[in-house]
Amino acid sequence: MGSGQWAVGGVMFERVEEAAAAVRRRAGSGAPEVALVLGSGLGDFAGTLEDAVSIPYGDLPHWPASAVPGHPGRLVVGRARGKRVAALAGRVHLYEGHDAASVVFATRVMGRLGVRQLVVTNAAGGVNTRLTPGVMMIIDDHINLLGVNPLAGANDDRFGPRFPDMTEVYASRLRRLADEAAAAARVPVAHGVYAACAGPSYETPAEIRYLRAIGADAVGMSTVPEAIAARHMGIDVLGISCITNMAAGVLPEPLRHEDVLETTRRVRGAFIALIEGIIDGL
Ligand code: HPA
Repeated sequence: MGSGQWAVGGVMFERVEEAAAAVRRRAGSGAPEVALVLGSGLGDFAGTLEDAVSIPYGDLPHWPASAVPGHPGRLVVGRARGKRVAALAGRVHLYEGHDAASVVFATRVMGRLGVRQLVVTNAAGGVNTRLTPGVMMIIDDHINLLGVNPLAGANDDRFGPRFPDMTEVYASRLRRLADEAAAAARVPVAHGVYAACAGPSYETPAEIRYLRAIGADAVGMSTVPEAIAARHMGIDVLGISCITNMAAGVLPEPLRHEDVLETTRRVRGAFIALIEGIIDGL
């Protein structure tokens, strides 16, 4: 997929269809009722699916490869709470050198499989100091500071319209459902705005003060491209940030990826309970 997002208009659609056909051959033709993108350290949910078919990303044609520690890289199709679920354990990021169209390849494949509901999760830093490590933040809205948009370039109308509305990227129906699931599972949740920065360097304290001033509550390096592409395809989106650390400059200590993964390990049970409750309510 090295040809760049500006050159791949019609070709991208064919590649997505080929990957979707490969998923159907391996996992069966029924459309999953929901797909989940599992963020850094949050991939364990995929291992809880019943009657699961696990497909390494490398087995799927055109699928971009990820190499970040904590991102195992497989699509698991199975059942949870009686529903057919597709879980994407591992995603690719812009900072790996992928273009924005490649970053949303998996989202496109889910849409072409017939998925109408997407849950996108991530590890994020708490910009709002009320968001402390271990809290789950339901994403109410986002700010795209990635410098790119996955819809840039020729529009393919088979995916969606040229100028899709972004008034309600994260469906209020799904946010309410997440609140109910969190209350039932006794998992503490907050709500807020997610800002996406390109990374891979963490933000500076001055950038965090800027993010706070423009209304961000959490910051991460993912999620926004997938959410935009999903809305382009008319898919309803729920976004959940696992706050893994206070953002840069809040505490007198440096940020470390190991601490991010350590927090995701600590909240593993709560995260899985929340996701199961959400799937139950869909
Ligand atoms: N900044 C950006 N991305 C992140 C962070 C952070 O503080 N924590 C986890 N992912």
